[in-house]
Amino acid sequence: MKILVCGGAGYIGSHTVKELLKEGFSAVVLDNFSTGKKELLVGGGLIQADLLDRAALKAAFQSQGIDAVFHFASLIQVGESYANPHKYYGHNLVSSLNLLEAMLQAGVKKIIFSSSAAVYGLPEKIPIPESHPLNPFNPYGQSKFFVETILRDYDKAYGLKFISLRYFNAAGADPEGRLGEMHDPETHLIPSILLFLLGKKDSFELYGTDFSTPDGTAVRDYIHVTDLASAHVLALKRLLTAQESDVFNLGTTRGYSVMEVIRAAEKVTGRKVVYIPKPRRHGDVPILLASKEKAERVLGWQLRHSGLETIIETAWEWHKKQSGEVDGCGSKWYKNA
Ligand SMILES: NC(=O)c1ccc[n+]([C@@H]2O[C@H](COP(=O)([O-])OP(=O)(O)OC[C@H]3O[C@@H](n4cnc5c(N)ncnc54)[C@H](O)[C@@H]3O)[C@@H](O)[C@H]2O)c1
Repeated sequence: MKILVCGGAGYIGSHTVKELLKEGFSAVVLDNFSTGKKELLVGGGLIQADLLDRAALKAAFQSQGIDAVFHFASLIQVGESYANPHKYYGHNLVSSLNLLEAMLQAGVKKIIFSSSAAVYGLPEKIPIPESHPLNPFNPYGQSKFFVETILRDYDKAYGLKFISLRYFNAAGADPEGRLGEMHDPETHLIPSILLFLLGKKDSFELYGTDFSTPDGTAVRDYIHVTDLASAHVLALKRLLTAQESDVFNLGTTRGYSVMEVIRAAEKVTGRKVVYIPKPRRHGDVPILLASKEKAERVLGWQLRHSGLETIIETAWEWHKKQSGEVDGCGSKWYKNA
C-alpha cells in the first residue's frame, strides 16, 4: 500500500509518515517546503512539488502508483486568515481541488483530510460531538468547512471516500526525539512558552484573562502529535476496510487553561514564565473541548501520550535540542541558534 502524504514535511504530516512506515505502509511525501522542513523527512519517497501545480500533481500520480492520500498541506494561521482571506481561500481551496482532480484522473478514491475544530465555531455544547452544527467564523475554519463540503459532494458524485479528522490543539513532539514542531512564526501556545523560556522569543503574550473560566484564561484541548499520527493510520485502515466516508474529532475531552499550561511548563522546565497580559484575540472562545467517544469507539483509538506534562516534556526536549541548549549544535532554522 503506497500512501501519498501531501504536507508530509510539516509538523503533523512528518509524525504521521513515521507512524505509517512503522505500520508497514510505504509513503511518498509531496511538499513544496513552504513551511515544511527537510529535517522532518523520516523516510519513504519525496516529490518536491506544489499542490497549486496541476501538471506536477498529474505526473506524481502517474509515476507513483498511489493507493490513498493524506492531505495535510494547507495554510494554518487563523490570525493571518482574517487579515488576508483571499490568500487562505485561494490556497486551501484551489490546492485541495487540484489534488482531488489529480486523484480522480488517476482513479485514486481514498483520502484522509486534515480538518480542524475551527469548523464548529462558537460551541453550543461541550464537549463538542461530530454532530455539532458547523458554523466556522474565521476564513481558515471556513476553508476547512468548504473542503469537507466538497469531499461530501465528490463522494456522492464520484464515489470518492474520505475521512475528515477535526484536530483540536496539536502539541508535543516525537517521544523518540526525531521530530517536533518547527513553525515560523510560531503562534501555538506551548511552543511559544518554550521558545520564550529558551530566549528565542523576546516576550510571551497571554491573550485574554477575562474569559468565563475558573481562572479567566481560555481552556483548550491539547492532543499529542503522536496520538494524532496514530489516529491517521487507524483512519486509513478504517477507510480501506469499511469503504465509507466519515468524520472524527481528535482531542482528549480534558481541557487545560492557559494558566494551567503555564504552571505545567514551569514545573517541567524549572523556569519561570513571565507573561504580558493582552486583550482577547478576535474570535477566541472561552472553552473548546472535543468529544473523543466516536474515534475511540469506531477507530479503536487510544491516547498514549496526551497527558499535559508528557506533551510539554517531549516538546521541551525537542526545542532544547533545536536551540543548541543540549549539545551546542542548534538547528539552522532556529533563530540565533
Ligand atoms: N497544528 C495544529 O494544531 C492543527 C490544528 C488543526 C488542524 N491542523 C491542520 O493540520 C494540517 C497540518 O498542520 P501542521 O501544523 O503540520 O502545519 P505545517 O505548516 O507544519 O505543515 C503543512 C505542510 O504542508 C506543506 N504545504 C503547504 N502548502 C503546500 C502546497 N501548496 N503544496 C505542497 N505542500 C504544501 C508545507 O510545506 C508543510 O510541510 C494543516 O492542514 C492544518 O490546517 C493543524
